[in-house]
Amino acid sequence: FHKHPKHEVAFSFTGPFGKFDQGQLQRGFKVYKEVCAACHSLRLVSFRDLQNIGFTEGQVKTIASEWAIETPSINPETGEPATRKSIPADRFPSPFANEVAARAANAGALPPDLSLMTKARHDGTNYVYSLLTGYVDQKGYKNEKGEELLKAFPDAKTGEGLHFNPYFANLNLAMAPPLTGNDQVTFDDGTKSTVPQMAQDVAAFLTWTAEPKLENRHSVGLGVIIFLLFFTVLTWMAYQNIWRDKK
Ligand code: HEM
Repeated sequence: FHKHPKHEVAFSFTGPFGKFDQGQLQRGFKVYKEVCAACHSLRLVSFRDLQNIGFTEGQVKTIASEWAIETPSINPETGEPATRKSIPADRFPSPFANEVAARAANAGALPPDLSLMTKARHDGTNYVYSLLTGYVDQKGYKNEKGEELLKAFPDAKTGEGLHFNPYFANLNLAMAPPLTGNDQVTFDDGTKSTVPQMAQDVAAFLTWTAEPKLENRHSVGLGVIIFLLFFTVLTWMAYQNIWRDKK
């Protein structure tokens, strides 16, 4: 009964010539930082990677210092693990001390690491966008074939602490809608901050975290195709040349 991801956003990085839009990645980072990072880590991304989307070394240091990270040592006064400020070489940590703490704070569910989310799910970029903009009322919900959920499954119920979202494979997930209204995140470049805007920017950012070398792949692929075309012509001409005087 779930839905395929929406295809209403034309992302700049799709297609063989696609490139990331740096402004969009920076906005998406801000959404991650101010909203998603309250629950989700990016354990494959280090702070200094942000330099590849246009942040300066100084900005990266400041950003890193906003994340506390646990150290192996113990605070001698409290017995708790001591923390320190992150440095650019650290990865984006989970806000929870461990899985038990993470589940306790999220109705038993574990907020997954988001580094590879756009690769882990089918049509991942559109999936993330759709999930964030796709929360609806379960009552009256119809699937893509027009069948009504509550007619087909009158007992279907969104459990306590869960939220109905037709883009999530089992329809009910433990994440409450994280993007709820205009101006939740203020964009430094003046872009109007609406829920679909924040959703598409963070989906783009998470596409970059999952595939930072996407532009490189596109340009190498293009070069390979051009070379192969040229090589085909060359071998055809060589063939003609070699057999020219044979009957
Ligand atoms: C799951 C994205 C904010 C808690 C997920 C999933 C994605 C996601 C893609 C995975 C769905 C799947 O497995 O297919 C985001 C983004 C956020 C955000 C982009 C910011 C805009 C938050 C916040 C919280 C949270 C603020 C906590 C208050 C969770 C939990 C799950 C989850 C608990 C697991 C749900 C389940 O398995 O039922 N999120 N999230 N998320 N998220 Fe978030």
